[in-house]
Parts: sequence; structure tokens; C-alpha cells
Amino acid sequence: MTSGREGPVVTLDGPAGSGKSTTAREVARRLGFRHLDSGALYRALTFALLDSGVPENDWPSLSTEDFRALGVTLDDTNGGVEVRFGDRVLADELRSKAVTGRVATLARLGPARACLLELQRKAGERGRLVADGRDMGTVVFPDAEVKIYLIADLEERARRRLRESGATNPTPEAVAAEVDAIHARDRKDSGRDLSPLRPAGDAIEIDTTGLAFDEQVAKIVGLVERRGI
Ligand code: CDP
Repeated sequence: MTSGREGPVVTLDGPAGSGKSTTAREVARRLGFRHLDSGALYRALTFALLDSGVPENDWPSLSTEDFRALGVTLDDTNGGVEVRFGDRVLADELRSKAVTGRVATLARLGPARACLLELQRKAGERGRLVADGRDMGTVVFPDAEVKIYLIADLEERARRRLRESGATNPTPEAVAAEVDAIHARDRKDSGRDLSPLRPAGDAIEIDTTGLAFDEQVAKIVGLVERRGI
């Protein structure tokens, strides 16, 4: 165990729609750990900028201090960590089209990443955390005890996204449009200079394309338990 922690940190990284957040939440619940959805933080910062009326063209010139001053925070709740903007707990608004369409642009900015790095490291100080995102195993928690990298077929990821947003039987056109949107975000996330999306050298890769949700959760819980930490 890394000194100072009361338990392990488990990281789950992967591209959009690979099932990271739902899997991480359930893995955390079964292990009795807290869950950190780092994507929700990037979304919250994007939401805060839009809500505060900061023009998108000005985002690249903001400093770490400017991003901090927006008032996005992480608070411990029982079972997880809650993302707040001032007094407001953010949840559904983080998944709006306006936020999803701009978040990868925000995530390329060094000062935005620096501001969120502090919040994420603090959430991991005591361990007993399952953290999901793009750079949990590579940058935020390079010393995590268990690192997982989830992948899944692009079209399968698009279908999952559409199902999540209520479309039970999407048309081929709707699937094709979602494939394009996810692919564009993956390209931005993998192609950026800072914290690009890629597996850590010591991550275990799991392809979830043909796996049922319960199977992928059980597989990860099993990996953590087998390490005996
Ligand atoms: O749920 P989904 O995989 O679609 O996205 P998310 O986890 O909510 O993350 C939204 C965006 O935030 C990603 O497309 C990345 O641009 C950014 N992000 C990041 O750069 N680093 C992270 N650790 C997590 C998210």
C-alpha cells in the first residue's frame, strides 16, 4: 500500500462510452470504496464557464487561478464524491449537448487540468477510491494499486450511449451520427499533448464489447480482491 493511504486506489480509464463510470460506480459500491468520476469534473468546469457567460474564445487565455475562482468543488458524501458549482450540486446538467460538445476542447487546456488535478489528488489521499477517466492511471494516480483500461467496439459504444439517453431502438442514422460524435471526441482526447488518452504501461486491458455489465464488474472486483489489498 502506498504510504499514507488507508486502502488502495483503483483506476479505470478508457474512451467515451466504454462503460467506465457505471462500472466504476458499481465496483466501488461492492468494495465499499468511494467513486470519483473525473469526467464529471471536466464537465462541471465546462458547465461553469458556459453558465458564467465566459466566451469560448477566451477559455485558452484563462489561468489556473481563473479556473479555481469559478467555484467547482468536490465534496465527500456517503459512498462517493459530489461535484458542486458554488452551492449547487451538479448532475444531469453535466450531460447536456452543450457541455458534451465542448468538454474535450476545455480538457486540452493546461490550466484547466492543473486546477482539477489538485481536487482529484485530494480525493485520493486516503485511498479506498475507484477513479475513472482518461488519465487516472497515467497522470493523476500513477502509483495506483490496480489499473484497468476499458475498451469496446466503437459502434457498440454509440449504441450504449443512445440507450442511456432513452433511445431503445435507434435508427441506423442515429447510430451513425453518435459514432461520428464519439469518434471526434476520442480523436481530440487521444491526440492532445497533455494527458492524452492511452493505457498506463501497467494497466490491465478489458474489452467490454461482448461482456454483460455484471461480468465486467465481477472481473474487476475479482482483480482487486485477488491482489489481497
Ligand atoms: O462519459 P464519457 O466517457 O463520455 O465522458 P466523461 O468521462 O464524462 O469525460 C468527458 C470529457 O472530459 C472527455 O471526453 C475528456 O475530454 C475529458 N476528460 C479528461 O480529459 N480527463 C479525464 N480524466 C476525464 C475526462
